[in-house]
Amino acid sequence: MAQTLKVNGKEVTVDVDPGTPLLWVLREKLGLLGTKFGCGQGLCGACTVHVNGTATRSCLLPVAAVSGEVTTIEGLSSDNSHPAQRAWIEADAPQCGYCQSGQVMACAALLKAKPNPTEADISAAMTNLCRCGTYGKIRKAVQIAVK
Ligand code: FES
Repeated sequence: MAQTLKVNGKEVTVDVDPGTPLLWVLREKLGLLGTKFGCGQGLCGACTVHVNGTATRSCLLPVAAVSGEVTTIEGLSSDNSHPAQRAWIEADAPQCGYCQSGQVMACAALLKAKPNPTEADISAAMTNLCRCGTYGKIRKAVQIAVK
């Protein structure tokens, strides 16, 4: 069934089952491989994208339920110039890197919603998991991003 979405500023039409999770449409139909599959159960956050600016776990969201604009890590900036991306580079946050696009997207949504977040706001927003356990560096990157 044809589904029309707005992804990273472009309107796209894909032919998929309406129950297909947004994650798989992004990765398999649109070739946007920056959004990762981790748990597939809404727990880890590797699949985090923005839907209308809100951090959303795309592995659980049926494509037919998407309304509004989707932004993936590829759409955050064309040259890694988004404040969250710059902060991640400055803090050298990634270890293996697998979860980091989801982490950056969670941070970018936080910056948009709360440009001057408290430590409690950061803790509430940054709930994505990291198997390497680089939470200290991720926290440092968020603190750089919000400066
Ligand atoms: Fe979506 Fe883990 S893959 S939350």
